[in-house]
Amino acid sequence: MAVDQTSEKMFREARKYLVGGVASSLHKSEFEPYPIYAARGSGSRLWDMEGKEYIDYMGSFGPSILGFAPAAINRAVVEQLERGTHFALPTESLNELSRKLTEILPGADLVGYQSTGTEANLVNFRLARAFTGKKKILKFEGHYHGWADELSVSVKPLALKAMGLRNRPWKNLESPGQLEDALDNIFVLPWNDLENFEKTIKRHRHELAAVITEPVMFNAEPVLPRPGYLEGLRRITRDNDVLLIFDEVITGFRLALGGAAEYYGVVPDLVTYGKAMAAGYPIAGVGGRREIMESGVHPAGTFNANPLCVAASLAAIGELEKPGVYEGLARITGRLVGGVRELGRKHGVKLFCDGLVSVWQLQFGIDAPMRDFRDNFKVDKAAYQKFYTQCLARGVRLHPSRGRFYISTAHTEKDIDLTLGVFDEVFGVLFG
Ligand SMILES: Cc1ncc(COP(=O)(O)O)c(C=O)c1O
Repeated sequence: MAVDQTSEKMFREARKYLVGGVASSLHKSEFEPYPIYAARGSGSRLWDMEGKEYIDYMGSFGPSILGFAPAAINRAVVEQLERGTHFALPTESLNELSRKLTEILPGADLVGYQSTGTEANLVNFRLARAFTGKKKILKFEGHYHGWADELSVSVKPLALKAMGLRNRPWKNLESPGQLEDALDNIFVLPWNDLENFEKTIKRHRHELAAVITEPVMFNAEPVLPRPGYLEGLRRITRDNDVLLIFDEVITGFRLALGGAAEYYGVVPDLVTYGKAMAAGYPIAGVGGRREIMESGVHPAGTFNANPLCVAASLAAIGELEKPGVYEGLARITGRLVGGVRELGRKHGVKLFCDGLVSVWQLQFGIDAPMRDFRDNFKVDKAAYQKFYTQCLARGVRLHPSRGRFYISTAHTEKDIDLTLGVFDEVFGVLFG
């Protein structure tokens, strides 16, 4: 169904000059023929090239926690713009942001900066190896930590058959050109299974530097940690002299100001943060215990802590630390999740819908929480793609390939009610 013919035309044109027609492989899903070209955004709304308005639940892949073009961030960035955009020197505002982050992020005695979550996770791998003198890192199936060779392992295996046994999984490469050697120092396990985890850690503790996890598995179809799971990871890693890294690139500043560590009360040794920390500007970083952070690892980066991004981050934190912000986000998310569940019952649709503060999920074909990435194959993706296309045509923009969505502080009850109206109509069309 053609949604925006101008976007279609522009995408055809882009492909003549730009590989794949988009700047990130994720800016267009494999299921859609072309992406919408964004003309502008404001608050919870986005406009395409033909002036069509969408209520947006993509949140720019997570950063836009204050909606599009938030006034407080615009002001801070413009002020900095006039003073200079880049010096490759420290600034007073960098000191202020660093102090603030050590106050906000549980367990972060010191912080460091990069521009993207991918880089920041690579820094955390290097820190863990430098501190422990060990080489290997354990990651979980379905967890995304960035596109680099060692990070991009068993993120999205295409079939259950390609994954091997639960206690002895096969490692999957994600891209042509990825070094097979990158797998040598990476262990992979299914998530949410403490027994399997403990056995593996005990067996390999002498060679494992760290375990990296998204505290909530928000990549692939989202999976929440089972009660006690994060606490279990903490206990088992500590007991076996293995470091625990929380990749809070999504959960950071989204579940609480102090991310999942604050929300669940589990403090990792190292944390990776990014996305929502600057509400739409490219800044990311690491934090952790002083003795680990002072292992002699201090990576360079031309744009590390760029002053515009630092200004944006300080302004974003200023907005997010106002009283009641996270309660407000959770209330709006709750209204949407409650409404979707009710529509599921009304139309007799088998679905699973849940929310966590400012992130929510919707899957068809299942009606109970998934346990790990392997359950992902039970989800009716074909139904989701039809749902996505029908919603887009009616002005609601969801994730083009999977059921994970964001709420921003700009989303209102009216947005939610309009969205539920669209869902009601689409459920009628698809499942009536
Ligand atoms: C949990 C997580 N970690 C790391 C990354 C990589 O961050 P970036 O895209 O900024 O490199 C992402 C990106 O989506 C992510 O979701």
